Amino acid sequence: MISKCLFPAAGYGTRFLPATKAMPKEMLPILTKPLIQYGVEEAYEAGCNVMAIITGRGKRAITDHFDISYELEHQIKGSAKESLLTDIRKLINSCTFTYTRQNEMKGLGDAIYKGKALVGDNEPFAVILADDLCINPNGIGVLRQMIELYNKYRCSIVAIMEVDKKEVHKYGVIAGREIEDGVFLVDDMVEKPESDKAPSNLAIIGRYILTPDIFKLIESTPAGKNGELQITDALLTQAKEGMVLGYKFEGKRFDCGSVDGFVEATNYFYQNETNR
Ligand code: G1P
Repeated sequence: MISKCLFPAAGYGTRFLPATKAMPKEMLPILTKPLIQYGVEEAYEAGCNVMAIITGRGKRAITDHFDISYELEHQIKGSAKESLLTDIRKLINSCTFTYTRQNEMKGLGDAIYKGKALVGDNEPFAVILADDLCINPNGIGVLRQMIELYNKYRCSIVAIMEVDKKEVHKYGVIAGREIEDGVFLVDDMVEKPESDKAPSNLAIIGRYILTPDIFKLIESTPAGKNGELQITDALLTQAKEGMVLGYKFEGKRFDCGSVDGFVEATNYFYQNETNR
């Protein structure tokens, strides 16, 4: 059973300045819903009910979002607008939200390590990077697909997708042998390689299932690309000492960490939201 999902959400969101000067990038909305709520809904749908959020300075809006706003609810009680809060209210009632801060921006590996206090080190857990917005319009969500795969293989899993060779420098990139349709046994993994040094064009997308031994491996991982502690490097050790899978998920992914991807997601949701 995987019941806990970690959300690294401490980054500055510099690509969205000035919008993110005083507002967390995870609170940027696609239509009327903030990015992080899409992630929490995906985790909930996958069976998680503990949402462990790694925040930082200036991120209080996230904490407030996943809490009741009595004044607001009192104001709109009995009006048609009340229904706009139904989804978020359901999450608040069904999940426990826990928080800790990453004090310094030392990389995704460090952010995940900070989550140890929230998710514990004796059970597997999920990780969602909320600016990778993933949907599967005609089937089960991406995280749930990964949890089902975890139940079969019981090892760490990273979501992957094929990207253009020109784009590999933006991602962690894996190489491995396909052991079943869309499932790769990872034997190499490089964080943001130049295109001529990339082991493949299979890029890691912001969905992970991690087994708890990852914390010990992070402790012994030196700083990597850009002087930051990279989860990709810790996972490579795990792949070499044990087993890590790459999973080509079913569904669509929007890179909402970039303005182009954000606009693409906005247009997509505007056209496809059923109640519009
Ligand atoms: C992070 C990871 C990278 C992964 C990417 C997915 O990079 O370090 O391996 O491919 O997320 O979005 P970031 O985009 O935070 O720089």
